[in-house]
Amino acid sequence: MSTMHSMMFRRVALTAAIAFAITGCGGAREKPTASQPAAAASPWPDVSWPLTADPALEKRIDELLATMTVEEKVGQLVQGDIASITPEDVRKYRLGSVLAGGNSDPGGKYDATPAQWLAQADAFYEASMDVSQGGKAIPILYGIDAVHGQSNIVGATLFPHNIGLGAMRNPELMRRIGEVTAIETRTTGMEWAFGPTVAVPQDDRWGRTYEGYSESPEVVASYAGVMVEGLQGKVGSQEFLDGTRVIASAKHFLGDGGTTGGKDQGDTAVDEATLVRIHAAGYPTAIAAGAQTVMASFNSVNGVRMHGNKPFLTDALKGRMQFGGFVVGDWNGHGQIPGCKNDDCPATINAGLDMAMAPDSWKGFYETTLAAAKAGTISKERLDDAVRRILRVKFRLGLFEAGKPSQRTVGGKFELLGAPEHRAIARQAVRESLVLLKNNGGVLPLQPKQRILVAGDGANDVGKQSGGWTLNWQGTGTKRSDFPNADSIYEGIAAQAKAAGGNAELSIEGKYTAKPDVAIVVFGENPYAEFQGDLPNLLYKPGNDVDLELIKRLKAEGIPVVAVFLSGRPLWMNREINAADAFVAAWLPGSEGAGIADVLLRKADGSVQHDFKGKLSFSWPRTATQYANNVGQKDYDPLFAFGFGLTYADKGTLAALPEVSGIEGEQSAGGVYFAKGKPSLGLAMQLSNAGQAGMPATTVPVALADGSLSLAAVDHKAQEDGRRLTWTGSKPASWLLVSGKPLDVTRESNGDVQLQLTVRRDSAVTAPVWLGVGCGDGCSGRVDLQKTLAAIPQGEWKVVGVPLKCFVAAGADVSKLVQVPVLESGAALQLSVSRIALGALNEAEATVACPAK
Ligand code: BGC
Ligand code: BGC
Repeated sequence: MSTMHSMMFRRVALTAAIAFAITGCGGAREKPTASQPAAAASPWPDVSWPLTADPALEKRIDELLATMTVEEKVGQLVQGDIASITPEDVRKYRLGSVLAGGNSDPGGKYDATPAQWLAQADAFYEASMDVSQGGKAIPILYGIDAVHGQSNIVGATLFPHNIGLGAMRNPELMRRIGEVTAIETRTTGMEWAFGPTVAVPQDDRWGRTYEGYSESPEVVASYAGVMVEGLQGKVGSQEFLDGTRVIASAKHFLGDGGTTGGKDQGDTAVDEATLVRIHAAGYPTAIAAGAQTVMASFNSVNGVRMHGNKPFLTDALKGRMQFGGFVVGDWNGHGQIPGCKNDDCPATINAGLDMAMAPDSWKGFYETTLAAAKAGTISKERLDDAVRRILRVKFRLGLFEAGKPSQRTVGGKFELLGAPEHRAIARQAVRESLVLLKNNGGVLPLQPKQRILVAGDGANDVGKQSGGWTLNWQGTGTKRSDFPNADSIYEGIAAQAKAAGGNAELSIEGKYTAKPDVAIVVFGENPYAEFQGDLPNLLYKPGNDVDLELIKRLKAEGIPVVAVFLSGRPLWMNREINAADAFVAAWLPGSEGAGIADVLLRKADGSVQHDFKGKLSFSWPRTATQYANNVGQKDYDPLFAFGFGLTYADKGTLAALPEVSGIEGEQSAGGVYFAKGKPSLGLAMQLSNAGQAGMPATTVPVALADGSLSLAAVDHKAQEDGRRLTWTGSKPASWLLVSGKPLDVTRESNGDVQLQLTVRRDSAVTAPVWLGVGCGDGCSGRVDLQKTLAAIPQGEWKVVGVPLKCFVAAGADVSKLVQVPVLESGAALQLSVSRIALGALNEAEATVACPAK
């Protein structure tokens, strides 16, 4: 560790004059401020920016800048999202950049064709170069979350998510992954990838744990630089920022992986030395590799939102660490600075942000920033510095000479999307990322020439094995045909078994006709992204033992079981580990599910094809409450330590693990309010009407004294896991879940997340049925379900969703919900409900339209 540290933080001596010339032409470099401690005491590493000043390039910037109006300058600072901006807007406002957010696609279609993406990129480029109605021709930068390959595009090679790549510990392969990602991104016209994520996740409840390579700063440092070089090309080489490369964004600066409780966009409360040692570890190598952009983080550090944190964005990043690219914001991240709004925030530019990601707020942001620049609230020096930094990147990338995206080196070469040589690299990464935790009796590797049962809901699901940030933001709701260049895990196993004269049979539920010799059960977390993946604890699948029961049943039938676990983090699942003979942590492998067969199956001649290489890059928890037990800590006591991973040379026997999770009582996943017939921890069930407010409903059957509403138990998937509500219609009455402490779903409401009921209509619906939330005295919002419920077939369970933003529109304050939900009817009605939870748009079978305001 110490050698790596000294290499990483090595000071390359630069004279003050050279440093000035490199990072701050035109007087842009900020002088260290009083808030910056003296060099010797500073925990921040010195880094040398590798690009020497290019006088010819600086001259071009000077010349262009001298002709630019303040409007044009401000335009360069603004990035709009393709769902909210048109090429015509870009032409008119002369904006510097557009992005495609996770759910933003040409024509609003998540499965838009590569040709549609490229045509759209051309249109934005042409708009930026169109001077027919005035303005300067400054090519636009188009950014996208190519975070595990060009992962928004149908047919692209999908690499394992970063957590798996961390387990592989192969920096050279990382570089190749960066190169392939860049090429595939360029085919569809974008020249900017919002990666690598160099977070160092410390609490595995965080929904973005899988976007990080490791809990260890050393592993992150060893990857950040090579990944930047892969994406951008090596500084000084022919390929550097050529037409096959993209600019990178090291993100999210800073402390994204250190928030209290693993809460996404929360606060990282650590001293500066720890912040730098752990959370900044990826930046020195990324900057030394010439990362052209750094993305500011949503989180705050010791209470200060990073988008407004001048000491870190300006003094530390651009000053001390000599970062010579530009700082881009995150999705309306500036709007979270106290005193700012999404469409008004000069403070973020003054703190050191050079370009704001103002997806839907770009127009207002442009106008207020322009006003601030004119009023001098943003100084001319700061404005010019930001514009120079952006232009410098555009010139270095050769954009002014590149022509439109479709005419560039690999623009439109769609045969490169998922090209066999690209997929081979991804498949190698899959092989090397698998971590073997248990191999009792040496059950692995398997002979391919036998009868193999492949079971579990992850066995034949490319969407599930690819995780979030896949074709859409959450990575949910995809289908097999969305992945033309991919193999599911089952498909990989089946092909190899067949070639060897064996036979693999697929049955998600583990059914078979002839008894198999062995079963491979593939299961795990369903896709999620960002805060939607935050967990209250590390318990695998609370309240749902179907995977465990499947493994146990197969074992009871005398079939050896190999468990393959898909997940974005290590989770407490000792019962599943105990039940299986072998246990493989496969993370989120992406399109190359066949990489799993490469390691699990022997060659036809019986020899080993590929041994396990993966080593844990995150410590595996001993209990479901061991959230933040990371390598190097004093009280470090994981179940499987950082670096653990068996090979076929190891004995692999694991004694039975304790099956006490450490979770007291009933706890459920975040965002679940009612399941298994019970309200979640912290919620109480009540019946209510004008005559009898808040009557507890802790037993069944139960009814209001006047009988207007009664509650009985019903079965949906399990015995008494639902409740049947019968309203007589004698007077309006409601069923509600009341929370002891106010629940804040603000983050969830800033998008298309829904409150969903799994419901069965047991009668006709003839009058309004109100689904509402309560937020204290006189504060509520409700939506009528009548039409939606009337349209679902009677007697069938359906998931009905109401977007959270509908409740906001109806008057609710979603930062302090105390009743979630309230279900009310004034007419006779019978409904059964088995689950109430937050969910994604595409998980609903019927969605209620928000009433017009
Ligand atoms: C995420 C970033 C991402 C951006 C654009 C944000 O919500 O935090 O990682 O690059 O959206 O999709
Ligand atoms: C966008 C993502 C973004 C997220 C932020 C989503 O609607 O598609 O790109 O990261 O919002 O919350």
